[in-house]
Amino acid sequence: MNGTTEHRSDRLKILVVGAGIGGLTAGLALRQQGHEVLVFEQSRFASEAGAAIHLAPNANGILRRLGIWAENFGANRMQKLTEYNSMGEKMRSMGLEEANKMWQHPWLLAHRIYLHDALKKAATSAQGKGGPVKLHTSSKVVDVDPRAARVTLADGSEFEGDIVLGADGVHSRARSRVAGSEFKPFCCGKSAFRFLIPRKAAQEDEKTSRFVQESGELSMWYGTDRRVIMYPTSNNEMLNFVCVHPEAESEAGDDWNKGGNLDRMLQVYQGFDPALLALLSKADPATLKVWKLLDMEVLPTWTNERLALLGDAAHPFLPHQGQGGAVAIEDAASLAVVLGAGTPREEIPDRLKLYERIRYDRANRIQDFSRLMGADLDKKVKLDMFAFTNFNFGHDEWDNSSQKLREWTWDRTPNVYWRMPIAFGPMPGPRQTHFGVARQATESTFTTASIKFKTSRTLLQNLFPRGVPGWRFKSPGTVAYASFSQTTLNKMEWLGGSGYNHLGLYIHGVEYEKQNGDVVSGAYMPILFENLTDPIVSGREELGMPKLYSSIDVYRRATSYRINTGWQGAMWGRFTLENLKEVEAAGDGGSISGDNDAGILTYRYMPAVGRSTKGTAEAAYPVYVPFKDEVPQPKPLRVFEADKASFKIDKLDWEALPTLHHVIERLAELPVYEVVAAKVVEGVGVPDVAAAQRVE
Ligand SMILES: *[C@@H]1O[C@H](CO)[C@@H](O)[C@H](O)[C@H]1NC(C)=O
Ligand SMILES: *[C@@H]1O[C@H](CO)[C@@H](O)[C@H](O)[C@H]1NC(C)=O
Repeated sequence: MNGTTEHRSDRLKILVVGAGIGGLTAGLALRQQGHEVLVFEQSRFASEAGAAIHLAPNANGILRRLGIWAENFGANRMQKLTEYNSMGEKMRSMGLEEANKMWQHPWLLAHRIYLHDALKKAATSAQGKGGPVKLHTSSKVVDVDPRAARVTLADGSEFEGDIVLGADGVHSRARSRVAGSEFKPFCCGKSAFRFLIPRKAAQEDEKTSRFVQESGELSMWYGTDRRVIMYPTSNNEMLNFVCVHPEAESEAGDDWNKGGNLDRMLQVYQGFDPALLALLSKADPATLKVWKLLDMEVLPTWTNERLALLGDAAHPFLPHQGQGGAVAIEDAASLAVVLGAGTPREEIPDRLKLYERIRYDRANRIQDFSRLMGADLDKKVKLDMFAFTNFNFGHDEWDNSSQKLREWTWDRTPNVYWRMPIAFGPMPGPRQTHFGVARQATESTFTTASIKFKTSRTLLQNLFPRGVPGWRFKSPGTVAYASFSQTTLNKMEWLGGSGYNHLGLYIHGVEYEKQNGDVVSGAYMPILFENLTDPIVSGREELGMPKLYSSIDVYRRATSYRINTGWQGAMWGRFTLENLKEVEAAGDGGSISGDNDAGILTYRYMPAVGRSTKGTAEAAYPVYVPFKDEVPQPKPLRVFEADKASFKIDKLDWEALPTLHHVIERLAELPVYEVVAAKVVEGVGVPDVAAAQRVE
């Protein structure tokens, strides 16, 4: 048995069944993602049939991304669309050059053989990103094991990998392992002849030259139940014909390469404009082909465990819109994106499901369009061609799948914090990484310097949230206690190992009585200053904390600790702790409020957006952070007490403090009846404040 070696590397081993345009595009894109790709093709040469193919902007963009520039092998632009009735009267003709300018990539008409060769060369070349795709020709896959990601060839040999992709076309073998064997393609009632002739042959014949005057012109002749489509390719030197007609009138089989009969074809279009018949009669009987147009019920699913279908294996296309190849190319792009470098093996089944979710509706919708486009004239409903074109062309599956994969990744972690800007995914912050994984701040350090003072309860209570009942002091006295407490945080993982300063006013002995009569008690914090934007934003939005910016500069000496606060050079606060002496650390809780409070109470307020809702809140409620629920718990290591401490707050004026004056003025108002304690606590473990909770 082949391929049983352990493959533990990051590279996935991907087995692709079928070396058609879809299979080779997938192989090329996946090798570029760094994976090991094996492609199995039943035919001996793995070559394409002589026919042309539309490379609409949605497909051409993907090919260019993979390094395939179809202009290099003669693809020419689609420039004009002309429609005739069966009598050869022109019904409509429209130039597309102007309209096509809205698409980033040109709409090209390519030769399938050259496109296929270019894909094969790029996929298997030693040059280029990733390792070459190994192409196994004469390797008919007769069975696939979706769980083991194993393929069995006709000669009995087996290959095993991490993923099998079924790109084995309309008669897919892999399909039965995904959807069961009841899904079989059936003829839609029409067959088609196809052939190529030199454009020159049409130009040199005076009966037909008028049809081929212009480059890049696609012409269609419509009978009621049959039609002819002609367009140029190979630098406008060849003309490609597709002649769709009732199945019963020719001898097509299921094989796309069955030879056709020229006389039969001319009979089918008997009664059409003789000039068209003159064109058709230029077909070389040796290369004329005829095949049945196959359709299929929509598959309920395209994937099973580690097997996924793409292209016609998943959704056989009728050719009426020229999107069959394009949709296969899009499928391949989507697979390469969802199976990007570093895809963990255990995620493979889920990622294949994601691919199906991304592609399913779009592929089925385009397929439906194609059916409608192919309807006989007498059954045809009026179609908005531009709506179809816009839907088909206005899509880049690489970009689309990249976003879908991103969103899928974000959604995999439950309970992720979202806050603005949400376009970029979960915001990294103190409580989570960008991937929504909770952080550990056990190694982070803190130094908290606090000055607790006795002051006026009647002034402090003016700092309760305006007009909100339920706030009160525990004690009826007109004196109360508050602390200015300043913390320096360091070694914060979420800040790349650095830190910042904050300083708040904590009013002790406060209670909030809920509407049901329950009481929450703690230190009420009407304002917290921070000297860094990131914690201000995350704390305001995720925790409901009333944070503002201030500079907070700390000067620490052997026995003193000074803090200066200001805004753009205007100093508004000076806090001093002197004669610091180390004492026993045991017994101190290390809380940021500087005292033995049960927790912190704040009030969250978020204004509504909009002129008519000006002055109303989108969110307004009390928030409580119980210290006992904090993770991690702060661990004080050293405690220093000051025997002398003071602070001075200067309210300055609106010119010096244009955004803070109203706050600082109120802080400056607070009388200091007595400084009752002042200390510096150093420790490790900084709570992430995720214990913050809405009170009602
Ligand atoms: C991705 O494409 C689908 C159509 O297949 C579309 O509905 C969706 O909006 C696109 N998503 C993004 C993020 O562009
Ligand atoms: C904020 O404080 C930290 C810690 O003292 C300091 O390193 C940082 O420079 C300060 N940031 C600003 C913007 O002043």
